[in-house]
Amino acid sequence: AARPDLAGRHVVVSAGGTREPLDPVRFLGNRSSGKQGYALARTAAARGARVTLVAANTGLPDLAGVDVVQVGTAVQLREAVLKAASDADAVVMAAAVADFRPATYATGKIKKKDGQEPEAIVLVRNPDILAEISADRPRPGQVVVGFAAETDDVLANGRTKLARKGCDLLVVNEVGERRTFGSEENEAVVLGADGSEIPVPYGPKEALAETVWDLVVPRLG
Ligand code: PMT
Repeated sequence: AARPDLAGRHVVVSAGGTREPLDPVRFLGNRSSGKQGYALARTAAARGARVTLVAANTGLPDLAGVDVVQVGTAVQLREAVLKAASDADAVVMAAAVADFRPATYATGKIKKKDGQEPEAIVLVRNPDILAEISADRPRPGQVVVGFAAETDDVLANGRTKLARKGCDLLVVNEVGERRTFGSEENEAVVLGADGSEIPVPYGPKEALAETVWDLVVPRLG
């Protein structure tokens, strides 16, 4: 049975993967299904929180009792998360946000030209939403949680990323082509800025979500 230990709290969760458009028919994207973020939103609502879920291209059905904001790109995700974060007690960034976007958007479909090599795609940096929220804390004292998808040196890369982003907790999961992204299960280590390291064994994404809230609750002011 769920404990109402998030009652009276507002939490913001991001889910899914951003799509960075190249032209009207193409985008740069990633394999996030949004399932981990939805599991975080569902479990927070069950624990009594008011939940804002910022969802990027998940195709998942809305959750009862959760305020869902649909976005497409990293820039849109940033705007929606910052808006909701202004009165949030906790922000959890489970979305896979593109670090770069195409420098230009072609308003007409990009065509191949006979006998010519393809043109290179020039990228520019997207804003780092997690780093920005960690540094600015739109609401003083709010707890900020990041996720990190790593393919190797998972713990070492996680520690470096936690320090660089400045969040309170970083959930590090190892990803592979058929692992974590899109699956029903996950396995992770939750790193704390206080040096803590909580392993979460392979299991349903809901179980990892519950552990995240278990670690957020005692950090709330
Ligand atoms: O959606 P599922 O299929 O269920 O899969 C879940 C998941 C693998 C997507 C999820 O568990 C996960 O690991 N999400 C973060 C993936 C990721 O993009 O990690 P990253 O190392 O690129 O980014 C680190 C953190 O910074 C993340 O919290 C990300 O939201 C944030 N970030 C990244 C780039 C950027 N420009 N702005 C950000 O805020």
